[in-house]
Amino acid sequence: MQDLKGLVVENIPITKEIYKLQVSVPEEILPEIVPGSFAMVKVEAKGVFLRRPFSFADVDLKTGLVTFYIKTVGQGTGALRELPPGREISMLLPLGRGFTVMSGKSLLVAGGIGIAPLKFLAKEITKNGGEVRIIYGVKNAEMFIPEIVNAFEDVEVYAEVSGLGKRGLVLDGLKSTDLSTYNQIYLCGPEAMLKAAKPVLQNYSGLIEVSLESFMACGFGACLGCAVKVFSNNEFVYKKVCQDGPVFNFKEVVL
Ligand code: FES
Repeated sequence: MQDLKGLVVENIPITKEIYKLQVSVPEEILPEIVPGSFAMVKVEAKGVFLRRPFSFADVDLKTGLVTFYIKTVGQGTGALRELPPGREISMLLPLGRGFTVMSGKSLLVAGGIGIAPLKFLAKEITKNGGEVRIIYGVKNAEMFIPEIVNAFEDVEVYAEVSGLGKRGLVLDGLKSTDLSTYNQIYLCGPEAMLKAAKPVLQNYSGLIEVSLESFMACGFGACLGCAVKVFSNNEFVYKKVCQDGPVFNFKEVVL
């Protein structure tokens, strides 16, 4: 983990709720970053004391460009949205345990802003010669990131409103998929989506990894504020989303 300073290159709204923040870090100091890991980004705003955790939506080690998709949910994310290009930004990175990048055919299942780490994962799998299919569910157009559809060949969009992909939920896409044709499955999305996916995936024998979203105060194991219950080695234990995750074996996570 390092505390790196970068410069805002681009900070643009994608919708009223989501924006894309791109930060440039000198490439010679940017460490190797795996999909699913995250950064704690410092927010310079009155009354905001905690850094905010964001998964990487993309990292380019050659250019030093780091990309986040951020949903505006409060004062911290609202303040970051206002940063102009050229402004310095401080990031603790990389944090947490990321996805296992596998070859073969991968099914990526994203709900809402959960698409962010899966976009980076899809890029890395493809780079390694693997194939990806993405099932991408959003509530409405305000949560939809069009460049996901442009970046990958096989993306199926589900929306809860009509006029955007297929009408329905991510779960509809998952249920209508022949899971046995995939070597591994990756998920990231709201808890309700993950809970609903549990029974659908219970007979799937391959690797399933999930990136969990959690409130995080410190991001590196010090505050114990991000505990999640898992069933591992025949016992229930609590693990830290920030340090033991955010990526976990989906079959072990108790939702
Ligand atoms: Fe502090 Fe996980 S966020 S221990």
